[in-house]
Amino acid sequence: MQTTYHPVISATGLFTPEHSISNEELVASYNAYADLYNSRHSAEIEAGDALPLQHSSVEFIEKASGIKARHVMSKAPVLDPEIMEPRLDQRSNDELSLMAEIGVKAARQALERAGRDVADVDAVLCAASNMERAYPAMAIEIQQALGIDGFAFDMNVACSSATFGIQTAADYIRAGNAKSVLVVSPEITSGHLNWRDRDSHFIFGDVATAVLVEDASIAPAVHWDIIGTKLKTVFSNNIRNNFGFLNRATPAGIGADDKLFVQEGRKVFKEVVPMVATMILEEAERLDVDPAGLRRMWLHQANTGMNRLIAHRVLGHEASDDESPTVLDTYGNTSSAGSIIAFHLHSDDLKAGDTGLICSFGAGYSAGTVFVQKVG
Ligand code: COA
Repeated sequence: MQTTYHPVISATGLFTPEHSISNEELVASYNAYADLYNSRHSAEIEAGDALPLQHSSVEFIEKASGIKARHVMSKAPVLDPEIMEPRLDQRSNDELSLMAEIGVKAARQALERAGRDVADVDAVLCAASNMERAYPAMAIEIQQALGIDGFAFDMNVACSSATFGIQTAADYIRAGNAKSVLVVSPEITSGHLNWRDRDSHFIFGDVATAVLVEDASIAPAVHWDIIGTKLKTVFSNNIRNNFGFLNRATPAGIGADDKLFVQEGRKVFKEVVPMVATMILEEAERLDVDPAGLRRMWLHQANTGMNRLIAHRVLGHEASDDESPTVLDTYGNTSSAGSIIAFHLHSDDLKAGDTGLICSFGAGYSAGTVFVQKVG
């Protein structure tokens, strides 16, 4: 007789860095940088050879994005107008690397909440937008730090990394290749953000999340049944970062900005909203889930405007904060971790039988849906 396996989410974990930067602090720092830049380049500006930098504004940031603050691993250097990038200690090969350290913290919390012994975990996926190094995999370092006997690997699908990780983990379980898989998303996005770029300096924050995906047979009594998962990618240059091992010799200042996050924000907004809303509705139909009956949507946390539009198209009415909670105000955009933070912080109150949707979208383009139902 063939055994059938069924993937569920047993628990999640969250690590939040202690430092937070408010919009007021961020804008004061950017404006000081802009003033410095303009005075240092006054001759070129006066001669018409360079454009002066405009001030950033708290009002614009809150209205355009819904972001009010973001957590960071390194605060003072990011706000110093002469530095404007995180300065994180370079660790020796014998020390736990930074991404692994925060990933382990989130993972430990997920394991604790599930009451799971590491001896029963089979695999670790480190699913994130940026990896601290090429190899060995961050996931293998996390696996070793947690004391897991099994296998681990890294995967990067930008802002959709966590949902792609959840489907990958669910597929291992469906195939009978694993019973317990940790999907860890340490997102130190402050290192890929151009803090000198007025159009995007407010977007990102740092965090780490973990999702424990398991076979229903070993899951704790209270868990989330994975009703179905769906992934989609469509190539686009509208969100891009050219940093890579073939261009490390680029002299600083020459084309250096494209080695950080760059986007055509308006195009992203216009193209991704319909793509994601259609994908959710098609997947709901395939799974025979009434989209209007979804109790909650934990959407990717990029922008309140995008989330409002997507949730409206799916639910058929303006979503309340209860139906589509946001963590953008305190966390900013944390790339792939965003929808998982929203799920982690805003799911305990749901009742057995309630259905919900974890959904990510971002660079690639990439999008992932995980429809879930509460059990227990
Ligand atoms: N402070 C004040 N004004 C600013 C500013 C800032 N920090 N940044 C831009 N502006 C100005 C622009 O110069 C522009 O001025 P103009 O009209 O005189 O040209 C105006 O505000 C509008 O800028 P624009 O970039 O068109 O803003 P927007 O309304 O499109 O909002 C985003 C920008 C990024 C918030 C928005 O495009 C968006 O949410 N995109 C979705 C993409 C996303 O979130 N991606 C994240 C990765 S998944």
